[in-house]
Amino acid sequence: MVAVCKERFIRDSDRDCLIFPSYRAAVACQAFITRENNEPSVDTATVSIIIIEFDMSRSKTVPFLSQASQLPAKIQLAAVFFPSEALLNAMTFWRLAGQGISSRLAERCLPSLKTLTQVTDLTNVFPRQKISPAHKKVCQRIANLLNRTTPGALRQVSVSTHDVYLYQSGMSAIYHVQQLLSEWRGTESIVFGFPYELTLKFLQAYGLPPKHYPFGTAKETDELEVYLEVERAAGRKIHAIWCECPSNPLLRTVDLHRLRRLADTYDFIIVVDETIGSFANLDLLGVADILVTSLTKIFNGQADVLAGRYVLYSYSVILHSHTNIHPPKHRPKSHLKILPRFRCFPQGLLPQRRLHLRYHPTRAQQQELPRPCHTNQ
Ligand SMILES: Cc1ncc(COP(=O)(O)O)c(C=O)c1O
Repeated sequence: MVAVCKERFIRDSDRDCLIFPSYRAAVACQAFITRENNEPSVDTATVSIIIIEFDMSRSKTVPFLSQASQLPAKIQLAAVFFPSEALLNAMTFWRLAGQGISSRLAERCLPSLKTLTQVTDLTNVFPRQKISPAHKKVCQRIANLLNRTTPGALRQVSVSTHDVYLYQSGMSAIYHVQQLLSEWRGTESIVFGFPYELTLKFLQAYGLPPKHYPFGTAKETDELEVYLEVERAAGRKIHAIWCECPSNPLLRTVDLHRLRRLADTYDFIIVVDETIGSFANLDLLGVADILVTSLTKIFNGQADVLAGRYVLYSYSVILHSHTNIHPPKHRPKSHLKILPRFRCFPQGLLPQRRLHLRYHPTRAQQQELPRPCHTNQ
């Protein structure tokens, strides 16, 4: 598809192209590859974005997804063209921000390559669509799983489907949380413990590089507390602490209760990536303000569908007290139209999952979070 776009829309062989599912993602890519400190530096004027369209109704070949999915007859995508020397930076954006088009969507477009045109009338590009039943169903299912616990001392209120924000990959969910938080308070953030490699790389590449406490031990928590105190004395506040429960791949869990107390004292947000622990097993909303998950590990049961989500726990005291944190009003949804073809927690895996849960205390009994499995004093 990229080759055809290059052939059709540019003449210079020293230019390259990447394709995104939305104009907003294309603009974010443009901003990333033209950042001031980039090596090589690339002028914004040399990076262009065009909207392209595939007309599925004119294609004779039916790609495998098209029979059941409700994707529109015309698919619009945003193509970014840039000097070839910026390809590495563009690929870094693609990899870290998780915003590229899915291979399924690309596969669906491929038989219609001959119908590819540039959209010149930009008045009605990427029209807003209603939230699809598939989207609602997935949000409901996630909220139900998160709500299996009995609200208690740590967590007072249940999650609603409106607290659940779905994205096309785990990295995309992380990207959107980072954007949300930096727009709210563009200060430093902290990564506590050693997270999934790309999360760390992403947070280092975007905004102010985070302060990193790689081991997440009790000793490092003491150091963190001293740092927060020093920052407070200087009139500064960090905006968030990012951690994982447990971490990938080291499977370590930091002392989340203590981080919660620090967050309440020093007024910042706790973001927990619980991809490995999974919201099907753990209730972290008593300690986290925002939960991130790569649903890639859950959808379809075979990790062959990319997806991600974050939950903004709207009853978190911190989120509640800062009314200037603005979650997106318009939820990305078009890619979710293909989800009815896939299964979230496929039937075949459910008995296995139940068996697994029997070895854990039920969430209603679980007054406390699992103890940190690593307390290296
Ligand atoms: C802890 C964690 N967070 C985020 C991600 C990124 O998720 P995705 O591959 O869905 O973008 C991964 C991927 O393995 C992960 O392990």
